[in-house]
Amino acid sequence: MDQEFWLARWQANQIGFHEGVPNALLVAHFAALGVPADGRVFVPLCGKSNDMLWLRAQGMRVVGAELSRLAVEQFFAELGLDPVVSPAGRLARFEAEHVTIFAGDIFDLDRAALGAVDAIYDRAALVALPEPMRARYAAHLVELTQAAPQLLITFEYDQTHHKGPPFSVEASEVAAHYDAGYRLDHAETRDVQGGLKGVCPAQESVWLMKRR
Ligand SMILES: C[S@@+](CC[C@H](N)C(=O)[O-])C[C@H]1O[C@@H](n2cnc3c(N)ncnc32)[C@H](O)[C@@H]1O
Repeated sequence: MDQEFWLARWQANQIGFHEGVPNALLVAHFAALGVPADGRVFVPLCGKSNDMLWLRAQGMRVVGAELSRLAVEQFFAELGLDPVVSPAGRLARFEAEHVTIFAGDIFDLDRAALGAVDAIYDRAALVALPEPMRARYAAHLVELTQAAPQLLITFEYDQTHHKGPPFSVEASEVAAHYDAGYRLDHAETRDVQGGLKGVCPAQESVWLMKRR
């Protein structure tokens, strides 16, 4: 998936991945990450996810990274907020009411711009990327955050039925990306209601990952 693919999806408002309510697996498992009150949570490839609002409602400060400036503008506009926008290297930093979103390519985001974070929440981020990009993404995430505790949600299904995204990411692949930096706890697997876009059965898994 190149950048044009995602930018076109936002332009055409083809955002079937966007959930109208906070993600049930986030709500069920976030407390187990043990993020301090007033913690700073990084949401990579955040879109305009309502999960950021749920995290903020838990008292968290939220920092996202999203390629599509349109998505970022929609996020703040739908909240009726007028964010402060400033340059951050090759990205633009949008900030209002305890939410900061870097608009641009996550691979252009560095540790200095991001700042320290207490946790990562990855929903539809790792699984949005094709296989060759996933290793680069995972390594970048670890470097950016110094392996901050992470709640990761993955999809598993028979990839021959659907070319993705989302892509199927098996437990062995999660371990390949993250085992060196994290202790991995496979917290839950549940069936996706209606399968993957009605095409085939699918499961979602929740990984709670703590720094080694
Ligand atoms: C499947 S969507 C998930 C969005 C969000 N996590 C959610 O749950 O609604 C993947 C998002 O990643 C963004 N994206 C793709 N490549 C990116 C990159 N290199 N840097 C930052 N964001 C990217 C896309 O624009 C898209 O909004």
